[in-house]
Amino acid sequence: MTELSGGPALPQERRVVTAIPGPKSQELWARKQETVAAGVGAVLPVFVKRAGGGVLEDVDGNSLIDFGSGIAVTSVGNSAEAVVRRAVAQLADFTHTCAMVTPYETYVEVCEQLAELTPGDHAKKSALFNSGAEAVENAVKIARAYTKRQAVVVFDHGYHGRTNLTMALTAKNMPYKHGFGPFAPEVYRVPLAYPYRWLTGPENCAQEAADQAITQITKQIGAENVAAIIIEPVLGEGGFIEPAKGFLPAIANFAKENGIVFVADEIQSGFCRTGQWFACEDEGIVPDLITTAKGIAGGLPLAAVTGRAEMMDAAHAGGLGGTYGGNPVACAAALGSIETMRELDLNAKAKRIEEVMKGRLTAMQEKFDVIGEVRGRGAMIAIELVKSGSKDPNPEATSALAKACHQEGLLVLTTGTFGNVLRFLPPLVIGEDLLNEGLDILETAFGTL
Ligand SMILES: Cc1ncc(COP(=O)(O)O)c(C=O)c1O
Repeated sequence: MTELSGGPALPQERRVVTAIPGPKSQELWARKQETVAAGVGAVLPVFVKRAGGGVLEDVDGNSLIDFGSGIAVTSVGNSAEAVVRRAVAQLADFTHTCAMVTPYETYVEVCEQLAELTPGDHAKKSALFNSGAEAVENAVKIARAYTKRQAVVVFDHGYHGRTNLTMALTAKNMPYKHGFGPFAPEVYRVPLAYPYRWLTGPENCAQEAADQAITQITKQIGAENVAAIIIEPVLGEGGFIEPAKGFLPAIANFAKENGIVFVADEIQSGFCRTGQWFACEDEGIVPDLITTAKGIAGGLPLAAVTGRAEMMDAAHAGGLGGTYGGNPVACAAALGSIETMRELDLNAKAKRIEEVMKGRLTAMQEKFDVIGEVRGRGAMIAIELVKSGSKDPNPEATSALAKACHQEGLLVLTTGTFGNVLRFLPPLVIGEDLLNEGLDILETAFGTL
């Protein structure tokens, strides 16, 4: 039991009492198939009843170790005490007025927190939205309004969402884009410094990739036509890729020299996930705009664009917003989530998770040659799986490992352009015993390959 659990008496333990999925989950899955669109898939067809700390309890009484956090959302744990306390109080006071009609204090407070926590000591402003994709779309709107330019530059392996503009910004076709075109125009993709797969070796990666990206921008688009360069400081859906050191500063400097708005998409990597408030702090990058969502509000839908005041003010009044953007309950939850991150020093917790995970995974890499690389930062850690003796992607081993873990009560997620990355995103409040138990399950799963 932890004070961060999803209610009283949610034991912090793994418990497998039925097949996974169990009979009740299977029954619910059959109902889902009847009424929910097939395009809305599920990684693991287990229906959750309660969740908190480091576990998800299902309708059959199984308790799964959570290495997913609802894709990097419940960093403070599910139903964290401060999130529940503040959200419940807000629910009782009022649920909605529409911030564009009659505003409320919590919206302003969230923007104040964002100004304080995001990198840089310049004057900052924010606008709040519902989803990550919506934040990215609005970052593009703001950059275009500010620069009076149209082109947007994104990177190989990047992921920015599933709406029309963000599908165009996203690299991977299947499942995100396939059959859903035509996509928004004026989006250009350039190389990313992906050290493990850089053909001339990781040591040349930052410089060569930056040179190639900058040459493409200047020769194929024209720097003077570019409104924004958008990059994830640690790539999420692309496979938890840390761009080679030096690449991000080179791109950020190029943006600065050419009057291009540099946007850090920290929707997955932000809010203590990598052991810093924001992953771009690692190389001292101060983005012009930063997009956040996921971890910001402990599971309630909230997203933000935060940036230089003069840029954020470029869009005319009424040009930014949306009915639910910055919903008061979601804002209250965000304040609870940030309070928890500060009070429990979740950056330190994420760093400790990295230490434990990397230690164990690196030892596994010595035993299992399908592990090509162990990488990531904080509680955003991954292994890239390859065919033995090569760097050829091994998506078959990746899904077999995920399945074996699921059956033993460990929720893990797969990712990566080639579908060959197992990613680990535990809640930052997970107990170390559960963390190690999850890694034991993974280690055993290699024996099933
Ligand atoms: C880096 C990044 N940007 C944008 C998004 C889109 O966020 P949402 O799913 O809330 O629209 C995601 C979601 O995974 C993401 O990881």
